[in-house]
Amino acid sequence: MKKSIRILGIETSCDETAAAIVEDGRYILSNKLYSQIEIHKKFGGVVPEIASRNHIQKISGVIDEALSEANMTFADLDAIAVTYGPGLVGALLVGVSTAKALSFSLNKPLIPVNHMEGHIFANYITYMDLEPPCVCLIVSGGHTHLVHVQDYGRYRILGRTRDDAVGEAYDKVARTLGLPYPGGPQIDKLAMMGDPKAINFPRAYLDKDSLDFSFSGLKSAVLNYINQTNMKRQPIIKENVAASFQASVVEVLVNKTLMAVKNIGTDKLLLAGGVSANSELRKQFKDICYKKGINLYYPKIELCTDNAAMIASAGYYGYIRGDRADMTLNAVASLALDSK
Ligand code: KG4
Ligand code: ZN
Repeated sequence: MKKSIRILGIETSCDETAAAIVEDGRYILSNKLYSQIEIHKKFGGVVPEIASRNHIQKISGVIDEALSEANMTFADLDAIAVTYGPGLVGALLVGVSTAKALSFSLNKPLIPVNHMEGHIFANYITYMDLEPPCVCLIVSGGHTHLVHVQDYGRYRILGRTRDDAVGEAYDKVARTLGLPYPGGPQIDKLAMMGDPKAINFPRAYLDKDSLDFSFSGLKSAVLNYINQTNMKRQPIIKENVAASFQASVVEVLVNKTLMAVKNIGTDKLLLAGGVSANSELRKQFKDICYKKGINLYYPKIELCTDNAAMIASAGYYGYIRGDRADMTLNAVASLALDSK
């Protein structure tokens, strides 16, 4: 019988300290996470130095929990996979140093993983039989990418944001509405009670046929609307602002993604990243994909936002491909997805 491969994944690129063990790239044996959200909430967003300091305090404990939940010891692992970018450099360095120390002392391979690639893999652990090629829309706090996933580990960027990432726009609009960090889930909830047609916010389609995105104009339009309404001493109906902002975001994401699916000629579409947890985004994609005969995939809610199971899963495919890092592995804050 073929021996199972068990990979420890480590993720510290932003404000989640995470460790997980995944078998054969698809089966989660454990998935542990220490979220720093409550700490950063006070500041209205992630404070990089505080994130690094918390990672260094928590990482060993989180790894121990992942091993004990999987009923394993370090000796049972086949390799250590770690996020080395993109992300906050000080935060990434904690995961990278920890993974290097483990790899060296246990004499086990070290597998470097791109965080964005990890987000795509959250789909492969949600759907056991899912295989590339496909198109993936990655929408997170730091990135907005339309990607042609040609194979495991082979990516071509079809479009990307020219300014703010979608999650970043959600978080900034939420902050202006006086909602706590992270703002995405707050806007999602408020929007359910609002009228998406109440305010006609702009939609940035950019040049005809462009698969790039831009959300800074929309963000400014929402902030201007809030300031002007306040100056006129008129009431702000937060539910309507949230629903109208979200309608603009989702419309552009859906239309550009459908264009990418058509251009590539695939019938397989994946959503990934924190914003793929958004209920309106999922609903609209579900409706349109059903009508057009496109097979839609998105991760379980808890695997949309940052976690280490997706890193361990991506690490498995890197492991069987022969990707290895040595003790010179460094954090790369702006690591590109198509850099291989
Ligand atoms: O993927 P992620 O955990 O971190 C990055 O790699 O950036 O994404 C976090 C982002 C935050 O901006 C958060 O507000 C957003 O995902 N988010 C959502 C929802 N849940 C998380 N945005 C909209 N609706 C949601 N339900
Ligand atoms: Zn992420």
